[in-house]
Amino acid sequence: MSDGKNLSVEEKKELLKRLMKEKSAKQAQGAASAATQSAANRDFSVYTQFEHFPEVQTLAAQFETLRMLQVSNPYFRVNEGIVNDKTRIEGRELISFSSYNYIGLSGDPRVSQAAKEAVDKYGTSVSASRIATGERPIHQELEKEIAGLLGVEDAIVMVSGHATNVTVIGHLMRPGKDLILYDALSHNSIIEGCVLSGARRIAFPHENWEELDKILTEVRGDYERVLITIEGVYSMDGDIAALPKFIEIKKKHHALLMVDEAHSMGVIGPHGLGIRDYYGVDGREVDLWMATFSKSFASCGGYIAGKKTLIDYLKYNTPGFVYSVGISPANAGAALAAAKIMKSEPKRALKTQANARYFLDKAKQKGLNTGPSKDSAVIPIITGNSAHALILADALFKDGINVQPILYPAVPDNEARLRFFITTDHTEAEINETVEKCAVHLERIRRDMADVSFPKSMIGG
Ligand SMILES: Cc1ncc(COP(=O)(O)O)c(C=O)c1O
Repeated sequence: MSDGKNLSVEEKKELLKRLMKEKSAKQAQGAASAATQSAANRDFSVYTQFEHFPEVQTLAAQFETLRMLQVSNPYFRVNEGIVNDKTRIEGRELISFSSYNYIGLSGDPRVSQAAKEAVDKYGTSVSASRIATGERPIHQELEKEIAGLLGVEDAIVMVSGHATNVTVIGHLMRPGKDLILYDALSHNSIIEGCVLSGARRIAFPHENWEELDKILTEVRGDYERVLITIEGVYSMDGDIAALPKFIEIKKKHHALLMVDEAHSMGVIGPHGLGIRDYYGVDGREVDLWMATFSKSFASCGGYIAGKKTLIDYLKYNTPGFVYSVGISPANAGAALAAAKIMKSEPKRALKTQANARYFLDKAKQKGLNTGPSKDSAVIPIITGNSAHALILADALFKDGINVQPILYPAVPDNEARLRFFITTDHTEAEINETVEKCAVHLERIRRDMADVSFPKSMIGG
């Protein structure tokens, strides 16, 4: 039993219990010794050795858990080619639900060709911030195209989706004067932006616009600028924000509204043009439209679109834009080609939507918990236990299906899940096989491993 291989279910449970006990004992020991040391004889060398960092030890314990559960590491798997409905890993072809290639444009020959032509014309880097010598015609064409997709005056594109949120929120909102109200399930990049800004920040309960309204009624008067941030489609649950309600509230309280469309642009709506298209609202009703190019746009980067005054200001002042290189020609070329295809071929988004509906219906028929996902290409299957999610993902991987588990601490342990990204290229046969295998494995795991879970010390229980 000591080498952790070929364990019976009972033995696995025992090992997990032991691991949990050992970890708690170590933590208690560490705390006791720190408390008894005076400043004079404290050993500061532990602060220079990464293996003593508690965060590093937590990661090591997580690897230990993978070993105990006898599952392969689901992270950093090498995909050996283009990932659409299929992928190749370790020489094996698998059905893939792990990439954001929602409308299949990464790998589309027209998009690849546009990237190559941009490289031939402008080189592999623009080699400077755009405000200096980095500006190229392709940047301006891309920004015009994005503004057109949203029906707003202008747009600014940056080198990363994550950095776009961090730098724009971080820069626009000010400490001591301003307030940011963000949805409790916001993406990390939004939260990092809020923290960077130094403005007061309040998370409102997920999608709870009534509560948001109440908070604003109470505190609006204490601040100058107020920013509300929401997402078009929430990336963990695949539910769509009630945009018209948020527009109403932002108007009522004289706040700015920012919508992150990472998972909605190119996917939802009758023309696949995002949440504005889904609800049929005027693009000018939202102050800051944001999205990343790494999903439907088959590239890398991010944008903010809105009024020209805002965009001009950001172009001359946002640190992540002014003090950073312009988006590369290949990335701008790919995103521009993808934006044009997105507009001219709504059938791609409509097929993604149909595939997602099909997946959702099948999963519900099998009694799987898909949470609040609706009308989007993100569908969770909630196992309610991180160890079960990990074991289920491993079993599917062995069966030729690649899907990412989402575990504590990314979500609370009782909301651990597999997250399926549906694309335009998936077939009904692939979806049938996946849902069927998922249901069978999950039933077995729940039956045979009901009390197998991550060590409590690790999940903060
Ligand atoms: C909602 C949301 N915003 C922003 C980002 C960051 O985008 P990128 O990965 O392109 O930097 C992501 C990435 O997954 C996201 O899900």
